[in-house]
Amino acid sequence: MNFASDNASRTAPEILAALQTANTGPAMPYGADGWTERLTARFCALFEAEVAVFPVATGTAANALALSALVPPFGAILAHPHAHIVEDECGAPEFFTGGAKFLTVDGADGKMPPAGLEATIGDAGIGFVHHVQPASIGISQTTEAGTVYALDEIRAISVIARKHGLRLHMDGARFANAVAALGCSPADATWRAGVDVLSFGATKNGALGAEAVIFFDRGFARDFPYRRKRGGHLLSKQRFVSAQLLAYLNDDLWLRNARHANAMARRLADGLAKAPSARLVHPVQSNMVFVELPENAIVRLLDRGFRFYRWRTDTSTTLRLVTAFDTEASDVDAFIAVASLA
Ligand SMILES: Cc1ncc(COP(=O)(O)O)c(C=O)c1O
Repeated sequence: MNFASDNASRTAPEILAALQTANTGPAMPYGADGWTERLTARFCALFEAEVAVFPVATGTAANALALSALVPPFGAILAHPHAHIVEDECGAPEFFTGGAKFLTVDGADGKMPPAGLEATIGDAGIGFVHHVQPASIGISQTTEAGTVYALDEIRAISVIARKHGLRLHMDGARFANAVAALGCSPADATWRAGVDVLSFGATKNGALGAEAVIFFDRGFARDFPYRRKRGGHLLSKQRFVSAQLLAYLNDDLWLRNARHANAMARRLADGLAKAPSARLVHPVQSNMVFVELPENAIVRLLDRGFRFYRWRTDTSTTLRLVTAFDTEASDVDAFIAVASLA
């Protein structure tokens, strides 16, 4: 009964089947295969634009390599202090950019407010030779708090980015959950709102291990083949990553999976909201529920075999509960029942 992470989920059967189908005969290595060619065309259709597409194996690689294409070694990336790129990538963005620094902009529910961004850029010392130079803004969609930036919020951030000559990167490890929640087109969720580069996630939502860096302005992608190779993410048997992504997009599997995960989180949140001793910490807008529970309820849940993380510290009574494409409604209901016991 996993609520620990969407990374603990299975691989979607459709994607395993696609891997089996791709596993016939030889195919040219390093992306010179038919699956990768079809994938680029598929992403262009999906985003209604001539995008440049680079499959990689992890979200950390997608983020760090994407940022390295936007930010010079003396540059700064503005991001929320709890962003995955800031806290959870072991310095990969700093490493791949050759030394760029984060300037963090705090805000409620995992989001950076425009006023905070403006103030931080204003204080950064643009043109002052002793300071790192703001080069990019990084937003997570969905955020690490499970919230979703509305389209007008993304547009407001992109206006600030444009005004100061910065590029906008979106960490879309849970992009499908965000698009499912927003109910808009992938184009509206990204380049039409001013996003320059997207880390398009798939692993958390049914793939075995597949992500893609999507450039909406192909000018930024010019050196990317070398960056990806140098970063160890040009896979020799890339057909198997591309085949996963093709299957992920086929018949809207990505959206169907995300809608299910989001619906399970909604069900969980609605149930917990009725428990007198539970307090929801953030608005529930995608596939994550942050809830505060009494310690005895947490111990009881652990004893009954539920798995989840206490948020930030081992003794915290705030839990992060994550649902996935394979979360069962019966597990959600069982969790609510145990958490609600007096
Ligand atoms: C917001 C966010 N971005 C990116 C990632 C990708 O990380 P990984 O390198 O583990 O695939 C994760 C995974 O937990 C994440 O939560």
